[in-house]
Amino acid sequence: MTAMTKPKTDDARAVVNAPALSPAAIVKPAMISVEESKAMDVARMTDLFKAHLNPGQLHFMKLLGFHKIKIETAEGMFYVDQNGRRILDFFGGFGSLALGHNHKRIIAAREKFQDEKRHEIAIAFMSQYAAALAHNLAQIAPGDLDMVFLGSSGSEAMEAAIKIAERAAGPKRPKVVYAENSFHGKTKGVLAITDGQLYRGEFKLTDNTVRVPFGDIDAIERAFKSDPEIGAIVLETIQGGGGIVQAPAEFWQKLRALCDQYGVLWVADEVQCGVGRSGRFFAFEHYGVVPDVTAVAKSLGGGKSAMAAMIAKRDVYMKAYGTPKTAMIHAAATFGGIGEASITAIETLHVLYDEGLIENAAVTGDYLLNRLQALQAKYPKIIKDVRGKGFMIGLEFHDFSQTLPMVLRPVVSMLDDKLKGSLSGFVGALLLRDYDVLVAFTEYNRNVIRLLPPLICQREHADRLVDAMDSLLGRGIVAIVKDFVKSQVK
Ligand SMILES: Cc1ncc(COP(=O)(O)O)c(C=O)c1O
Repeated sequence: MTAMTKPKTDDARAVVNAPALSPAAIVKPAMISVEESKAMDVARMTDLFKAHLNPGQLHFMKLLGFHKIKIETAEGMFYVDQNGRRILDFFGGFGSLALGHNHKRIIAAREKFQDEKRHEIAIAFMSQYAAALAHNLAQIAPGDLDMVFLGSSGSEAMEAAIKIAERAAGPKRPKVVYAENSFHGKTKGVLAITDGQLYRGEFKLTDNTVRVPFGDIDAIERAFKSDPEIGAIVLETIQGGGGIVQAPAEFWQKLRALCDQYGVLWVADEVQCGVGRSGRFFAFEHYGVVPDVTAVAKSLGGGKSAMAAMIAKRDVYMKAYGTPKTAMIHAAATFGGIGEASITAIETLHVLYDEGLIENAAVTGDYLLNRLQALQAKYPKIIKDVRGKGFMIGLEFHDFSQTLPMVLRPVVSMLDDKLKGSLSGFVGALLLRDYDVLVAFTEYNRNVIRLLPPLICQREHADRLVDAMDSLLGRGIVAIVKDFVKSQVK
């Protein structure tokens, strides 16, 4: 069967053409069962991915060697593939696996919830689980960040964040400041403040936005001063897609003061850096300041469920949705606060503290950062910078687009124009192939390897990553690029 065919049973075709449909004539379409999906081989999986999910994405998977792998199970820091190979996970589901894969307490909580046949959908009746999760998040959040909206993705939480800010700021102040190289999600509203041409494409987005360089307090002050229509500023506390970029503590303190002075609401996007990843629950806690609105997602779901939250200060909430007339503008979507996802998030928050994972992110993250900085000192011509906080670390390579040997340049650019000169793709592919280590990349800076391991990561895992990187870089750039090219033409 080719990827593009869509086989249907003869019966199913007959039903489509039938003039009148009797209930007895409803025939089950040819569908794959759960057990068959588990047993599917790589070739069939690839065919179906191409036919029904994203044929273009396969190109990138091939470049990185991901296309040969079928994950069978996953536990703790490791994926296990169809050949029993254990892959050390420093990709961490782009930061959604704080507890590692299939944490025992999460599985147990979910199994119990299922066995007890608890209710899930929280639309008609209130949910004790959603209420408890909102309470717990308010307990964790500093200051009067007390009002919680539950959704299913980071984008949805960020949509809720910009909506509440816009309503609280009022109709005379609809403009939103955002940063260069920001990433806030791919849904249509937040695309307007996501700074990637690739994602924005030709979509028609709202133009009530003002773009400033990340971390440039003077540019922000100029914007606030010159444009009284600005009502909110949205910033990732640590930029993820931009290449793990931080601003100094004094930037955040001045930002808080400026927002207070001009009456602008500060929205902190903590979707990637939050839930303990930076070594504090919220990354803004490092700077002793509190935003007006924030959002978390990813690891909040414990690696097993889709859960996201927007958290706002009570006065911001009351201005936006505080009356019976306005309340329903904001009520959760169908799956907001769904039962099993809520109890998964409740248990996740408990595990984070019970197992000291936030502290581990700070301590072992620091150890990893130091080891990578030593690697940079060993390979200063290859590694340009190592930076980050906790388990949110970026390793930036020098740009080799102009320094690769002439013979390699056309071959490399033929393989993929975007990877040209970006050692991170080559290193990532070979780390996986030769050392069984998985790393991630960043949206906008192709020279950066992004490390977002589970917060259960121990020194031995950090050592394995750094030793693998050391061994690989020791081969030299030309050998790495040649090896990569060879693996692609095979
Ligand atoms: C900072 C930030 N905001 C928002 C999002 C969107 O989250 P999601 O992919 O869950 O919609 C992401 C996702 O990577 C993110 O990193």
